[in-house]
Amino acid sequence: MEDAFGHHISYLRVSVTDRCNERCRYCMPQEEQAWFPKDEILSYEEMLRVLRVGAGLGIRKVRVTGGEPLTRPGVADFCAQISAIPGIQEIGISTNGTLLSKTEGGLTMAERLVKAGVRSANISLDSLDRETYRRSTNRDLLPKVLEGIEAAISAGFRSIRLNCVLMKNQTEREFMPLLNYAWEKGLLLRFIELMPVSTQDVLSEDNFLATGTARQLIEQHTGPLLPRPDFKTNGPATYYAVAGTEQKIGFIGAMTNLHFCETCNKLRLTSDGKLRPCLGSWLEFDLREVLRSPQGCTDQELAGFIHNVVARKPKEHDFRHNYQPNRRMIAIGG
Ligand code: GTP
Ligand code: 5AD
Ligand code: SF4
Repeated sequence: MEDAFGHHISYLRVSVTDRCNERCRYCMPQEEQAWFPKDEILSYEEMLRVLRVGAGLGIRKVRVTGGEPLTRPGVADFCAQISAIPGIQEIGISTNGTLLSKTEGGLTMAERLVKAGVRSANISLDSLDRETYRRSTNRDLLPKVLEGIEAAISAGFRSIRLNCVLMKNQTEREFMPLLNYAWEKGLLLRFIELMPVSTQDVLSEDNFLATGTARQLIEQHTGPLLPRPDFKTNGPATYYAVAGTEQKIGFIGAMTNLHFCETCNKLRLTSDGKLRPCLGSWLEFDLREVLRSPQGCTDQELAGFIHNVVARKPKEHDFRHNYQPNRRMIAIGG
């Protein structure tokens, strides 16, 4: 599928729940949450149907997100069913890591996911300092996350990436501990610019730290960082390496990288069944209504709907002028 600007769409991010066992400041409003009622969330069968039709239209990569996807029962079996869809070549999961080491039926969740065909795990890790982590996520779960990362390493994912959202006056202290940890474990760490989705209070200039500034601050510790355009992960991150080494660092400059959207290849299915062609635009299309229409819908109608959404995908995101109240990152899936 191609959109009006020549983006080739082959990647679908599927948010399976808006629920989470953490409360990150940048992801959701801090007042008590009303989660979506269960009947507003797509069933796994409904999502699989969308994925089958999507695969027929050229979707090749799926990323399962949340909220925290591992809080929804049956997610590993869901991933196994995605693996069985002809055409789907790659499945990843984005998780906060807290439940990866949880054991069920003698296997850790990480092992169950690998067995289900999930090849990559992106794990959020904002800090290695327990108190800073607690403040950032409103939960004291750092030890669980570190256990989860170990479980992921032993489970044998092909790729494990760590995500750290850049917060001014917080992340500066975390650069080297996080990088040394990632390098020691052989994992890729990416620093992500704060995006104005969900909640306006933390998204002010006071908290914003640009990837360019982060890079310069890191260079004060590591010496020159050299761009590594040869190193690609088929996503929005750009990678650098410490000069003369293979120690890599990823940056996701959603707000300051002017070329960020040029290679965009994705659509999002939100947990409440909206097809969203761009994270940084209000546009959403109600796929749930089509899936659940009283007279039913054919796969052809679904395919037509998906095509129309792709045709309306914006050229690029417009976060700065497009802050969307009442649409939480936790519901969209990042
Ligand atoms: P892979 O490339 O498959 O590893 O995935 P990813 O890096 O896109 O996934 P992940 O869930 O780890 O997301 C990392 C960060 O990138 C999150 O903060 C996402 O919100 C952000 N991100 C991912 N895709 C997009 C995008 O299309 N637009 C914007 N603005 N941000 C994105
Ligand atoms: N800005 C940037 N990244 C965010 N994430 C959640 N909310 C935001 C935001 N407002 C990140 C999480 C997770 C990924 C899926 O999205 O930290 O790593
Ligand atoms: Fe939960 Fe991830 Fe959102 Fe944090 S960023 S509240 S861990 S979904």
